[in-house]
Amino acid sequence: MLRILHGSDLQMGRPFRPRAAKALRQLAFEVDPNLIVISGDLTQRAKVHEFQAAWKFLEALPQVPLVVTPGNHDVPLYRFWERLLVPYRSWNRTIPHDLDSVTVIPGATVVALNSASPWSAIVGGRLTQAQLRFARQSFDSEPTEGIRVLVTHHHFVCKSAGGGGRPIPTAPLIINQIEEMEVDVVLSGHLHRMQVAMSRDVVPGKNFAVPLITAGTATSRRGRGEEKGTNSVNVLDVMEGRIKVTPYLLSNSEQAFEALEPISLMRRHMSNEPPSLPRHMASEERA
Ligand SMILES: [Fe+2]
Repeated sequence: MLRILHGSDLQMGRPFRPRAAKALRQLAFEVDPNLIVISGDLTQRAKVHEFQAAWKFLEALPQVPLVVTPGNHDVPLYRFWERLLVPYRSWNRTIPHDLDSVTVIPGATVVALNSASPWSAIVGGRLTQAQLRFARQSFDSEPTEGIRVLVTHHHFVCKSAGGGGRPIPTAPLIINQIEEMEVDVVLSGHLHRMQVAMSRDVVPGKNFAVPLITAGTATSRRGRGEEKGTNSVNVLDVMEGRIKVTPYLLSNSEQAFEALEPISLMRRHMSNEPPSLPRHMASEERA
C-alpha cells in the first residue's frame, strides 16, 4: 500500500494559523506517509520570508519524498514589475523544487504542473500544451504498474457554491488529455475546501472516471464553505484496484486533525456511481 498525505494552501503570512501547522505536523508523523504532496499557495504574498517559513515547516515534516507546486499566491499580486519580469524570484530563491516536476517512487509517478498564471489570469489558473506534453512524456517513460498522479494548484471543476473561483478555463480540453494519459488521480487545492469530483463532471456525457480531489487549506484562516474557519488535509491510501481517501478536519479545539468518513474510489473505474461523500461535505453536495 502506498500512502500519500495531501495538503494545500499553507498561505504563510497573515492568514497562517500556527496551531493548524502544529497539528498537521503531528498528523504527518502519525499517518507515516510514503509521500507528501503540497498543491500550491505555500505563501500569502510570495515574499521571501514567507517562503522561508513555508520551507522551514516542510523540512520539519517526515523525511519522505515531497512534491510541491506553486499556486497563484506564490507569485506577487501587487508587486507589478516583479510579477511581470521575475514572478518566481522568491520561489526560486527559497524552494528547492522545480516549477514543473516529476517524482518517481516505488508504486507511483507524480507529475506536478505549475498552474499559476502571473501574466494573465493572476488568480485563476492555466496550463500550457508544453506542460501537458511534459506530463505525458514523464508518465510514458515510467513503468505502467504504478499509480499516475497529477498535481496542480488550480481545480478543474467546482461542484457547489462556496467560493474558490472558476476552474481552469480550458478544463474540458485538459481533462481529455488527462484521460488519455491514464492518470489515476488528480490532486489540487485553491478551493479551500475538500472536494471529490470525477473527470466526467468536467466533460459531461463522457464515461470518464479519474478522481479529481482537492484538499482544503491546511494551515490558513481562509477555509471556505463548510470548512470556513477550519482546516483540512487528505490522506490517500492507494491499494490494489482502489484508492481510499480519508479527509482530516481540524478539531474544534484546534489541537489535532481528526479523520472523517473515508471515501473509497476504484482505480480507473468506469462506474457511473458518484463517490459517497463524508458527512461534512454532504450538505454542500446537495446545494
Ligand atoms: Fe490559490
